[in-house]
Amino acid sequence: MTIKVTKISHTAGKLQTVHWEPSPSDLDASERHIIAKRGQSNNLMEIKPYVRAYARDAAEIHMEGQPGTFLTRLGRDFLVRLYELFAELPDVFGSVAIDGETVTGVGFAAMDTRHLFRTIKYRYWHRLLGPIVRQVLRDPGLIGQLLQSIRYPNTLKPLPDEAEILFVGLRRNYMRQGIGPKILDDLLEEAYRRGAMRAVGTVEKKNRAVRWMIARLAGARVDQEIILNGRKMLVYRVELPVGIDRKPPIEP
Ligand SMILES: CC(C)(COP(=O)(O)OP(=O)(O)OC[C@H]1O[C@@H](n2cnc3c(N)ncnc32)[C@H](O)[C@@H]1OP(=O)(O)O)[C@@H](O)C(=O)NCCC(=O)NCCS
Repeated sequence: MTIKVTKISHTAGKLQTVHWEPSPSDLDASERHIIAKRGQSNNLMEIKPYVRAYARDAAEIHMEGQPGTFLTRLGRDFLVRLYELFAELPDVFGSVAIDGETVTGVGFAAMDTRHLFRTIKYRYWHRLLGPIVRQVLRDPGLIGQLLQSIRYPNTLKPLPDEAEILFVGLRRNYMRQGIGPKILDDLLEEAYRRGAMRAVGTVEKKNRAVRWMIARLAGARVDQEIILNGRKMLVYRVELPVGIDRKPPIEP
């Protein structure tokens, strides 16, 4: 079975079609089942660089995939504006998965999260303030979380040359078809192309789907466990490019 994935390069806008054919001997029965499902529903999927026109889709996908979390509680208006900003700022880039006219999934990564947060906090705060104030008036409990989230980049102890995966999410009907991993791979490739030597991602400990998605990356490891807004989070790190064998040569 061959799965066809169409990718458009972030820089050149070049269309590239990748055929991925897993070797049957590498797979156990449950993996073969996943591949079969993916082959049926995912014959042609386009992965494109994220642009501003997808901000509404990104906000909807975020709210659907992360119900009850801090950014979702800040509301749709806030998320649309945040994702519009993401399209404008050089520190951040994204990928979208498209099926016909539908944006099925989205992912974002930052080359320097601390710098990104600082830029938003000091230069673009006025674009986010309206929706934040409206939501805080409705839900004052958000203030504590707001303060903790502002401090978040310092919690992470970022390493040099490290990109951060900020979010990967799909519309519910498109989950469990292998699209999330394709978006993640695209973000990691682009991060490496932009000069990152490793990538970091913070995920909720109980989010099995995203942990499964990261566990498939060769060399991915849990580096820190933190509490963010009362939730247990795991900080994963992986060296880039993914899939390179980094074992030292055996001494004679
Ligand atoms: C995390 C996410 C991007 C994974 O993408 P995906 O394309 O669905 O991943 P896969 O197709 O490789 O799914 C692999 C496995 O993850 C698990 N999984 C995926 N979606 C799941 C769901 N909605 N419920 C339970 N398990 C799920 C399953 O074990 C699945 O394998 P299976 O179908 O054989 O049981 C997607 O589930 C998602 O959008 N989740 C909501 C948003 C989110 O939590 N993002 C992470 C924060 S950064």
